[in-house]
Amino acid sequence: MSLDDLYRQVILDHAQHPRARGVLSGDDVRAIDLKNPTCGDHITLYVRIQDGKVQDIRFTGEGCSISQASASMMADMLKGQNIEAAERVKDIFLKMIQGHDLVESEEETLGDAVALKGVAQFPARIKCATLAWKALEQGITDHSS
Ligand code: FES
Repeated sequence: MSLDDLYRQVILDHAQHPRARGVLSGDDVRAIDLKNPTCGDHITLYVRIQDGKVQDIRFTGEGCSISQASASMMADMLKGQNIEAAERVKDIFLKMIQGHDLVESEEETLGDAVALKGVAQFPARIKCATLAWKALEQGITDHSS
């Protein structure tokens, strides 16, 4: 199996069996709605941040396989991380999606999300892959403001 095939399988697995789909409620939960302007699909990301940590993270919404897989990978990876670590993962992901090369340790940090590397070659799909991460960026910024 080629690396591309493996990445395709990882993406499909997350898209078909998304981790962390659902809703969070409570005073300490930030809900961020974001729309992909190019297609109209949207995501609502729920983040519970306590004691400097992403204690829980869930999402709802509709979108293509890339957007759903990306949200699933992100939520799976960031639950339980402290905010600095979550921001670092987000920055590395956005760097990869913009087509920049990553060093090995950065690829390891991204876990399954490295499977979305190829999206960088398809500018029309970049917004699909970054939708959840942009929502996270807002959630973290809202929290610290
Ligand atoms: Fe709408 Fe990808 S086509 S999020």
